[in-house]
Amino acid sequence: MGRFDGKVAVITGGNSGIGKATAIQFAQEGAKVVVAARREDEGNAVVDAIKSSGGEAIFTSVDVSSSEEVQRMVAQSVEAFGGIDYAFNNAGMVGTHFASIDQYDETHWQRVMEVNVTGVFLCMKYQIPEILKRGGGAIVNMASVSGLRGSRGGAAVYATSKHAVIGLTKSAALECAQKNIRINSVCPAVIDTPMAQGALMSDDEMKKQVIAMHPIGRIGEPEEVASPVLWLCSDEASFVTGHQMVIDGGLMA
Ligand SMILES: NC(=O)c1ccc[n+]([C@@H]2O[C@H](COP(=O)([O-])OP(=O)(O)OC[C@H]3O[C@@H](n4cnc5c(N)ncnc54)[C@H](OP(=O)(O)O)[C@@H]3O)[C@@H](O)[C@H]2O)c1
Repeated sequence: MGRFDGKVAVITGGNSGIGKATAIQFAQEGAKVVVAARREDEGNAVVDAIKSSGGEAIFTSVDVSSSEEVQRMVAQSVEAFGGIDYAFNNAGMVGTHFASIDQYDETHWQRVMEVNVTGVFLCMKYQIPEILKRGGGAIVNMASVSGLRGSRGGAAVYATSKHAVIGLTKSAALECAQKNIRINSVCPAVIDTPMAQGALMSDDEMKKQVIAMHPIGRIGEPEEVASPVLWLCSDEASFVTGHQMVIDGGLMA
Protein backbone atom coordinates (compact mmCIF):
# COMPACT_ATOMS: atom_id res chain seq x y z
CA MET A 1 0.00 0.00 0.00
CA GLY A 2 1.28 3.48 -0.93
CA ARG A 3 1.04 6.63 1.18
CA PHE A 4 -1.12 8.28 -1.49
CA ASP A 5 -3.37 5.46 -2.67
CA GLY A 6 -6.45 6.83 -4.45
CA LYS A 7 -5.31 10.44 -4.08
CA VAL A 8 -4.76 12.91 -6.92
CA ALA A 9 -1.56 14.96 -7.30
CA VAL A 10 -1.05 17.80 -9.79
CA ILE A 11 2.57 18.58 -10.65
CA THR A 12 3.40 21.62 -12.76
CA GLY A 13 6.66 21.32 -14.64
CA GLY A 14 6.05 17.57 -14.34
CA ASN A 15 7.66 16.74 -17.67
CA SER A 16 11.29 17.45 -16.68
CA GLY A 17 13.84 17.57 -13.87
CA ILE A 18 12.51 17.86 -10.31
CA GLY A 19 8.84 17.81 -11.39
CA LYS A 20 9.30 14.61 -13.39
CA ALA A 21 11.03 12.85 -10.47
CA THR A 22 8.19 13.97 -8.16
CA ALA A 23 5.48 12.80 -10.59
CA ILE A 24 7.11 9.37 -10.74
CA GLN A 25 7.49 9.10 -6.95
CA PHE A 26 3.85 10.15 -6.37
CA ALA A 27 2.71 7.48 -8.84
CA GLN A 28 4.93 4.85 -7.17
CA GLU A 29 3.17 5.68 -3.89
CA GLY A 30 -0.30 5.16 -5.37
CA ALA A 31 -1.36 8.66 -6.47
CA LYS A 32 -3.10 9.45 -9.73
CA VAL A 33 -0.85 12.05 -11.29
CA VAL A 34 -1.50 15.08 -13.47
CA VAL A 35 1.67 15.99 -15.35
CA ALA A 36 1.30 19.65 -16.36
CA ALA A 37 3.67 21.70 -18.52
CA ARG A 38 3.97 23.14 -22.03
CA ARG A 39 6.03 20.52 -23.92
CA GLU A 40 3.66 17.72 -24.83
CA ASP A 41 6.11 15.02 -26.04
CA GLU A 42 8.14 15.23 -22.81
CA GLY A 43 4.89 15.20 -20.77
CA ASN A 44 3.52 12.17 -22.58
CA ALA A 45 6.83 10.35 -22.07
CA VAL A 46 6.46 10.78 -18.28
CA VAL A 47 2.83 9.59 -18.46
CA ASP A 48 3.89 6.53 -20.49
CA ALA A 49 6.65 5.73 -17.97
CA ILE A 50 4.14 5.92 -15.09
CA LYS A 51 1.55 3.80 -16.90
CA SER A 52 4.10 1.17 -17.90
CA SER A 53 4.90 0.73 -14.19
CA GLY A 54 1.19 0.21 -13.42
CA GLY A 55 0.38 3.78 -12.34
CA GLU A 56 -2.26 6.27 -13.49
CA ALA A 57 -1.42 9.63 -15.07
CA ILE A 58 -2.51 12.19 -17.65
CA PHE A 59 -0.67 15.01 -19.35
CA THR A 60 -2.25 18.44 -19.51
CA SER A 61 -0.73 21.27 -21.48
CA VAL A 62 -0.42 24.51 -19.48
CA ASP A 63 1.47 27.77 -19.44
CA VAL A 64 1.18 28.62 -15.73
CA SER A 65 1.30 32.37 -16.44
CA SER A 66 -2.10 32.17 -18.18
CA SER A 67 -5.20 32.21 -15.99
CA GLU A 68 -7.30 30.49 -18.70
CA GLU A 69 -4.76 27.71 -19.10
CA VAL A 70 -4.41 27.16 -15.34
CA GLN A 71 -8.21 26.98 -15.02
CA ARG A 72 -8.25 24.41 -17.84
CA MET A 73 -5.50 22.39 -16.10
CA VAL A 74 -7.55 22.28 -12.90
CA ALA A 75 -10.75 21.39 -14.79
CA GLN A 76 -9.01 18.59 -16.70
CA SER A 77 -7.56 17.19 -13.45
CA VAL A 78 -11.03 17.08 -11.88
CA GLU A 79 -12.59 15.63 -15.02
CA ALA A 80 -9.97 12.87 -15.27
CA PHE A 81 -9.65 11.86 -11.61
CA GLY A 82 -12.60 13.42 -9.72
CA GLY A 83 -10.73 16.08 -7.72
CA ILE A 84 -7.38 17.31 -6.45
CA ASP A 85 -5.71 16.38 -3.12
CA TYR A 86 -2.13 17.60 -3.61
CA ALA A 87 -0.33 20.10 -5.80
CA PHE A 88 3.35 20.68 -6.41
CA ASN A 89 3.59 24.10 -8.06
CA ASN A 90 7.07 23.56 -9.41
CA ALA A 91 7.09 25.09 -12.91
CA GLY A 92 9.60 27.88 -13.17
CA MET A 93 12.30 29.51 -15.26
CA VAL A 94 15.65 31.17 -14.84
CA GLY A 95 16.09 32.03 -18.52
CA THR A 96 19.26 32.87 -20.38
CA HIS A 97 19.50 36.59 -19.66
CA PHE A 98 21.91 37.53 -16.86
CA ALA A 99 22.72 41.20 -16.23
CA SER A 100 23.02 43.75 -13.44
CA ILE A 101 19.82 45.55 -12.48
CA ASP A 102 20.75 48.75 -14.34
CA GLN A 103 21.27 46.70 -17.53
CA TYR A 104 18.38 44.29 -17.04
CA ASP A 105 15.91 43.73 -19.85
CA GLU A 106 12.41 44.74 -18.68
CA THR A 107 10.53 42.24 -20.85
CA HIS A 108 12.58 39.39 -19.41
CA TRP A 109 11.94 40.70 -15.89
CA GLN A 110 8.17 40.63 -16.49
CA ARG A 111 8.26 37.13 -17.96
CA VAL A 112 10.21 35.58 -15.06
CA MET A 113 7.87 37.22 -12.54
CA GLU A 114 4.79 36.06 -14.49
CA VAL A 115 5.95 32.43 -14.62
CA ASN A 116 7.63 32.06 -11.22
CA VAL A 117 5.30 34.19 -9.08
CA THR A 118 2.00 34.83 -10.87
CA GLY A 119 2.08 31.19 -12.03
CA VAL A 120 2.19 29.93 -8.43
CA PHE A 121 -0.53 32.41 -7.41
CA LEU A 122 -2.83 31.33 -10.26
CA CYS A 123 -2.28 27.63 -9.55
CA MET A 124 -3.16 28.04 -5.86
CA LYS A 125 -6.12 30.31 -6.69
CA TYR A 126 -7.79 27.56 -8.69
CA GLN A 127 -6.45 24.50 -6.82
CA ILE A 128 -7.52 25.58 -3.31
CA PRO A 129 -11.31 25.45 -4.00
CA GLU A 130 -10.91 21.94 -5.46
CA ILE A 131 -8.78 20.72 -2.54
CA LEU A 132 -11.39 22.14 -0.14
CA LYS A 133 -14.10 20.08 -1.87
CA ARG A 134 -12.09 16.96 -0.91
CA GLY A 135 -11.99 18.07 2.75
CA GLY A 136 -8.34 19.16 2.66
CA GLY A 137 -4.92 18.26 1.34
CA ALA A 138 -1.54 19.87 0.83
CA ILE A 139 0.33 22.16 -1.54
CA VAL A 140 4.08 22.53 -2.01
CA ASN A 141 5.44 25.49 -3.96
CA MET A 142 8.87 25.56 -5.57
CA ALA A 143 11.13 28.30 -4.18
CA SER A 144 14.95 27.99 -4.05
CA VAL A 145 17.91 28.90 -1.85
CA SER A 146 17.80 31.97 -4.14
CA GLY A 147 14.62 32.84 -2.24
CA LEU A 148 16.64 33.16 0.97
CA ARG A 149 19.55 35.36 -0.11
CA GLY A 150 20.36 37.94 -2.76
CA SER A 151 21.99 37.25 -6.12
CA ARG A 152 25.22 38.91 -7.23
CA GLY A 153 25.38 36.94 -10.47
CA GLY A 154 23.00 39.02 -12.60
CA ALA A 155 19.95 37.01 -11.57
CA ALA A 156 18.18 39.52 -9.31
CA VAL A 157 14.85 38.70 -10.92
CA TYR A 158 15.20 34.99 -10.13
CA ALA A 159 16.10 35.75 -6.49
CA THR A 160 13.23 38.23 -6.27
CA SER A 161 10.75 35.78 -7.73
CA LYS A 162 11.77 33.00 -5.34
CA HIS A 163 11.64 35.35 -2.30
CA ALA A 164 8.10 36.16 -3.48
CA VAL A 165 7.15 32.47 -3.66
CA ILE A 166 8.13 32.09 0.00
CA GLY A 167 6.02 35.11 1.02
CA LEU A 168 3.10 33.88 -1.07
CA THR A 169 3.40 30.40 0.45
CA LYS A 170 3.43 31.71 4.03
CA SER A 171 0.40 33.92 3.35
CA ALA A 172 -1.52 31.06 1.71
CA ALA A 173 -0.58 28.76 4.61
CA LEU A 174 -2.03 31.24 7.12
CA GLU A 175 -5.21 31.67 5.07
CA CYS A 176 -5.69 27.91 4.87
CA ALA A 177 -4.37 26.90 8.32
CA GLN A 178 -7.85 26.16 9.67
CA LYS A 179 -9.16 24.70 6.42
CA ASN A 180 -7.09 21.51 6.53
CA ILE A 181 -4.82 22.53 3.67
CA ARG A 182 -1.13 22.68 4.59
CA ILE A 183 1.00 24.83 2.30
CA ASN A 184 4.81 24.77 2.30
CA SER A 185 7.68 25.61 -0.02
CA VAL A 186 10.95 23.88 -0.84
CA CYS A 187 14.27 25.68 -1.30
CA PRO A 188 16.76 23.51 -3.15
CA ALA A 189 20.37 24.48 -3.94
CA VAL A 190 21.73 23.26 -7.27
CA ILE A 191 20.00 20.12 -8.52
CA ASP A 192 21.12 18.21 -11.61
CA THR A 193 18.37 19.10 -14.12
CA PRO A 194 18.30 20.56 -17.64
CA MET A 195 17.75 24.03 -16.12
CA ALA A 196 20.85 23.84 -13.92
CA GLN A 197 22.94 22.24 -16.66
CA GLY A 198 22.04 25.10 -19.01
CA ALA A 199 22.32 28.03 -16.59
CA LEU A 200 25.08 27.04 -14.18
CA MET A 201 27.17 24.21 -15.56
CA SER A 202 27.75 24.86 -19.22
CA ASP A 203 31.51 24.18 -18.92
CA ASP A 204 33.72 22.03 -16.68
CA GLU A 205 35.23 24.98 -14.76
CA MET A 206 31.74 26.35 -13.89
CA LYS A 207 30.63 22.88 -12.86
CA LYS A 208 33.62 22.52 -10.50
CA GLN A 209 32.81 25.89 -8.88
CA VAL A 210 29.15 24.99 -8.49
CA ILE A 211 29.99 21.66 -6.83
CA ALA A 212 32.48 23.40 -4.50
CA MET A 213 29.68 25.68 -3.19
CA HIS A 214 27.98 22.64 -1.62
CA PRO A 215 29.61 21.46 1.65
CA ILE A 216 28.39 17.92 0.96
CA GLY A 217 30.73 17.83 -2.06
CA ARG A 218 28.22 17.38 -4.89
CA ILE A 219 25.04 18.83 -6.35
CA GLY A 220 21.65 17.27 -5.65
CA GLU A 221 19.60 14.79 -7.67
CA PRO A 222 15.95 15.51 -8.60
CA GLU A 223 14.81 12.52 -6.48
CA GLU A 224 16.39 14.18 -3.43
CA VAL A 225 13.88 17.03 -3.78
CA ALA A 226 10.97 14.78 -4.76
CA SER A 227 11.18 12.75 -1.51
CA PRO A 228 10.88 15.80 0.80
CA VAL A 229 8.00 17.10 -1.35
CA LEU A 230 6.13 13.83 -0.84
CA TRP A 231 6.89 13.96 2.88
CA LEU A 232 5.49 17.50 3.11
CA CYS A 233 2.28 16.26 1.43
CA SER A 234 2.02 13.16 3.62
CA ASP A 235 0.26 12.77 6.97
CA GLU A 236 3.73 12.45 8.53
CA ALA A 237 3.99 16.24 8.10
CA SER A 238 0.57 16.93 9.65
CA PHE A 239 1.83 19.80 11.87
CA VAL A 240 4.02 21.42 9.17
CA THR A 241 2.63 24.43 7.34
CA GLY A 242 4.04 27.78 6.19
CA HIS A 243 7.54 26.28 6.25
CA GLN A 244 10.32 26.81 3.69
CA MET A 245 12.28 23.58 3.61
CA VAL A 246 15.94 23.99 2.66
CA ILE A 247 17.33 21.06 0.62
CA ASP A 248 20.87 22.16 -0.12
CA GLY A 249 23.69 19.79 0.86
CA GLY A 250 24.64 22.26 3.60
CA LEU A 251 25.01 25.34 1.35
CA MET A 252 23.02 27.69 3.59
CA ALA A 253 24.76 26.43 6.73
N1 LIG B 1 17.70 22.74 -10.75
C1 LIG B 1 18.01 23.58 -9.75
O1 LIG B 1 19.20 23.73 -9.41
C2 LIG B 1 16.94 24.30 -9.01
C3 LIG B 1 17.23 24.81 -7.74
C4 LIG B 1 16.24 25.49 -7.03
C5 LIG B 1 14.99 25.63 -7.57
N2 LIG B 1 14.73 25.13 -8.82
C6 LIG B 1 13.38 25.30 -9.34
O2 LIG B 1 12.85 24.03 -9.62
C7 LIG B 1 11.81 24.15 -10.59
C8 LIG B 1 11.98 23.06 -11.64
O3 LIG B 1 13.17 23.28 -12.35
P1 LIG B 1 14.15 22.11 -12.80
O4 LIG B 1 15.47 22.42 -12.22
O5 LIG B 1 13.54 20.79 -12.59
O6 LIG B 1 14.35 22.46 -14.35
P2 LIG B 1 13.68 21.88 -15.68
O7 LIG B 1 14.01 20.45 -15.80
O8 LIG B 1 14.12 22.81 -16.76
O9 LIG B 1 12.12 22.06 -15.40
C9 LIG B 1 11.44 23.27 -15.53
C10 LIG B 1 10.00 22.87 -15.70
O10 LIG B 1 9.15 24.00 -15.70
C11 LIG B 1 8.27 23.92 -16.81
N3 LIG B 1 7.89 25.27 -17.19
C12 LIG B 1 8.71 26.31 -17.47
N4 LIG B 1 7.99 27.39 -17.80
C13 LIG B 1 6.68 27.01 -17.74
C14 LIG B 1 5.46 27.66 -17.98
N5 LIG B 1 5.42 28.96 -18.36
N6 LIG B 1 4.31 26.98 -17.82
C15 LIG B 1 4.32 25.69 -17.44
N7 LIG B 1 5.45 25.01 -17.20
C16 LIG B 1 6.61 25.66 -17.35
C17 LIG B 1 9.06 23.19 -17.87
O11 LIG B 1 8.24 22.55 -18.84
P3 LIG B 1 7.88 23.19 -20.27
O12 LIG B 1 9.09 23.93 -20.73
O13 LIG B 1 7.49 22.04 -21.12
O14 LIG B 1 6.70 24.09 -19.98
C18 LIG B 1 9.77 22.15 -17.02
O15 LIG B 1 8.93 21.06 -16.77
C19 LIG B 1 11.91 25.59 -11.12
O16 LIG B 1 10.90 26.37 -10.50
C20 LIG B 1 13.27 26.05 -10.65
O17 LIG B 1 13.33 27.45 -10.49
C21 LIG B 1 15.66 24.46 -9.53
